Amino acid sequence: MKKFILGFIVCFGISSWGQEIQSPSKKISVSFSLTSEGKPAYQVSYLNQKIVEESELGIALKNNVALDHGFSLIDRVTTTVNESWQPVLGEQATIQNVYNQITYYLLQKETNRKLNIIFRVYDEGVAFRYDIPKQSNLNYFVVSDEKTHFNLLENHKAFWIPGDYDSQEYAYNETNLSEIDNSKLDMNNGIGVKSIASPYRVQSPLMLKSPSGIYINIFEAAVVNYPVMHLDVDPKKFDLKSDLVPNAIGDKAYLQAPCASPWRTIMISNDARDIVGSKMILNLNEPSKITDTSWIKPMKYVGIWWEMHIGKATWDYAGSQNAQNAADGQLKPSGKHGATTANTKRYIDFAAKHGFDGVLVEGWNAGWEDWFGNWKENVFDFSTPYPDFNLKEVNDYAKAKGIKMIMHHETSGSVANYERHLDRAFELMQQYGYPAVKSGYVGKIIPRGEYHDGQTMVNHYNFVAQRAADYKLMVNSHESSRPTGYSRTYPNYIAAEAARGNEFNAWSVGNPPMHETILPFTRLLGGPMDYTPGIFEIKMNIYDPAKKEQVHTTLAKQLALYVTLYSPLQMAADLPENYEKYIDAFQFIKDVAVDWDQSYYLEAEPGDYVTVARKTKGKDEWFLGAITDENPRKTVLKLNFLTPGKKYKATIYEDGKDAHWEKNPKSYAIKTIQVTSESKIKLNLANGGGTAISFIPIK
Ligand code: NOJ
Ligand code: CA
Repeated sequence: MKKFILGFIVCFGISSWGQEIQSPSKKISVSFSLTSEGKPAYQVSYLNQKIVEESELGIALKNNVALDHGFSLIDRVTTTVNESWQPVLGEQATIQNVYNQITYYLLQKETNRKLNIIFRVYDEGVAFRYDIPKQSNLNYFVVSDEKTHFNLLENHKAFWIPGDYDSQEYAYNETNLSEIDNSKLDMNNGIGVKSIASPYRVQSPLMLKSPSGIYINIFEAAVVNYPVMHLDVDPKKFDLKSDLVPNAIGDKAYLQAPCASPWRTIMISNDARDIVGSKMILNLNEPSKITDTSWIKPMKYVGIWWEMHIGKATWDYAGSQNAQNAADGQLKPSGKHGATTANTKRYIDFAAKHGFDGVLVEGWNAGWEDWFGNWKENVFDFSTPYPDFNLKEVNDYAKAKGIKMIMHHETSGSVANYERHLDRAFELMQQYGYPAVKSGYVGKIIPRGEYHDGQTMVNHYNFVAQRAADYKLMVNSHESSRPTGYSRTYPNYIAAEAARGNEFNAWSVGNPPMHETILPFTRLLGGPMDYTPGIFEIKMNIYDPAKKEQVHTTLAKQLALYVTLYSPLQMAADLPENYEKYIDAFQFIKDVAVDWDQSYYLEAEPGDYVTVARKTKGKDEWFLGAITDENPRKTVLKLNFLTPGKKYKATIYEDGKDAHWEKNPKSYAIKTIQVTSESKIKLNLANGGGTAISFIPIK
C-alpha cells in the first residue's frame, strides 16, 4: 500500500462564504462556515456550479443540549491522501483512494463540549462525518436526531423507494423531487413488512439527475454502531434532511465518546459512468480487519431455492401447521419437501457436472411449519435437520464431488434467538466444512420490535460477519440493512440481498424492466448483491397455467445481469431441468467470472441502460454485459478495452430479432466472431433485453 499524508494546506482557501477545500483535480469544492448563531454549515460546488446550497449540520442529544449551535472554530487540519489498496474480491484488483481532507475542530461555548467535522473531497464526490472526541463532560449519550441537511437547488429527477425502516424490497419510482409521495404508492406488490411513517421519506442511496444533466447520489458509508440514514424530503424546497432509523422506543443511537458517525456522501458528476464506477463508498471504510484472507473465495452456486419460490416444492417438511394439527403431534411428510437428501444429491451432481463451486439448500432444518405468520421467538435452532435430510450423507457426497455446501439460516427476524444459537450453528458448519452461510431476516424483528435498519440490527449484521470470520465463514445476508462498504473491513461479508431481488418476479407484480438499470446506481454502491439472476423459464404459467407472474426481462438479459450486477457470489437461480433445456445459453453462466482485475462502465444512464466490460481476475478473458429498460436499444461499442495485438473469440448471447420481455422473452441467438481491440461491435437489445459476451483469447 502506497500512502502519502501531507500535513500542510492543500487546495484550501477562504471563499466569500467560508473556508473552502477542493478535490484533487479541483472539480468539486466544499465550503464550511459557522453561521451568526455558531451553527455549522456547508455548501458544495461542482465545476463552479453550486449543487448544495448552505446546509446546516448537527446532532441532537436526548435530554441534553444539541450539538448544532453556539460553536466556535478552534482549529483546522488538512491532509492529502493518495494511496491504493487491493480488495480481496472485487470489481478491480487495485483501488485508488485519492482525496483532500479537512477537519474542523469546534467548541460549544455553552457546554464546553467538542465536536469535530471531517470533510473528504474526492474527484467524484464529497464525504463528511461527525467525530466526537473523548472529553470529560460527554461520555455516554443518546442521539435523538441528526440534523444533517442536503439543501439542493433544483427539482431533480429522483430514483427513489419509500423510507420503510424494515425493507428495501421495493421497485424504484422515477419522479421529480416535488412528486415524492409515499401515500400515492400502490403497496400491493408483495411486501410483507411496511414501516413507513412519512409520505415524504425516502431511502438512501438516493440517485438524482439535475435538469441540466448532472448526476448526484446521496448515500452514506461505514454504517457501524449507528442506524441507517433515510432522507426526509421537502418537496417544495428540495431540502433533504437525514432521518435516522429509531429503535423500539424512538431513540436513534446509543454512543460513547470517542466515536464517529458514518460518512455522509454526495457523489457528483456530469457523466453517469463516474457514479457507477466509483469506489468512494468502499474507500471510506476501514481496511480489512481479517489478516489471513486466503479462505475468502468467490463462488458460483446453484440451489434448492427457486423450486420453493415457484411453488413446486416447500421449505417445510410437513406442510404448514400440519405439525400442530396432527393428532399425535408428530410431523408427517407432505411429499413436497424440497430439501431432501436425494434432491440435494441431484443438485450436487448438476453443480459438479457444470463446474459450479457450491450448492445452497433451504428448508433443511426443522421449524419451517411455523416460521411465517406465527412469528414465534424460538422457531429455529439452526442445527436440527428434518428427518429426510441427512447432513453427513449430503456433505460426504458433496465432498467426494468437489462441491461446497452453502448453509441457510432463516431467522424469521427472531434475532435474539439467532444470537443465542449462533456459535453452535457455526460450529456445525465447521464440522461439516460449509464455507458460507446465507442468512435471512423475513418479518418484523422479534422480540423487541426493533426495525431492520436501526442501530441494534446494524450491530447484529456486523457482529454476525465478525463472528463468522472467527470461524472462517463467509456471509450472505438477506433482508438485512443495505451495505455501506463494510465488506472492505470484513471481506467475508461476501454479499447481501438488501434490495428487491429476482425472487419478486416469481410471486408478485415483479421487478419492472428498468429495475436492474437502477440497482448499480443505488444498492450496488455499498457492496455486492445476491440478486439471483439466471432465470430462463421466464413465465410462471409453465408451472401452473393460472399463474400470471413473470420475470420482466428477456432470457439474454438474465445472462447479462451476471456482468452488470457485480457480486463475487452469484447464483444460477433456475431449476437444473430448465438449464438442460437451454444448454447453449447456459454455457455463458458456466463461463462467466465473478472476481475481476478491471471493470469499465462503457455506457450508463439510471433507469435506461448499463453496459460494462470486465476482465477476469488473473486471466486475459473478458466478459461484457449490456442491459436496457423496457425500451429497445441499439448501440455500437469499441472493444478498445481488450489487450492490443491479441485476437479473441467473442461469443455473443443476444436477444432474438423478435424478442421482447413480455411478448417473446425466450427468443435468443448465439453467434461467434473474431475480434481485436480495434474492433467495433453493434448491439441490438430488445425491449427489456440484454446482450452478454465472452471474449476468450485465440492462441
Ligand atoms: C427471503 C429471501 O430473500 C429468499 O432468498 C429466501 O428463500 C426466503 N426469504 C426464505 O428464507
Ligand atoms: Ca428477500
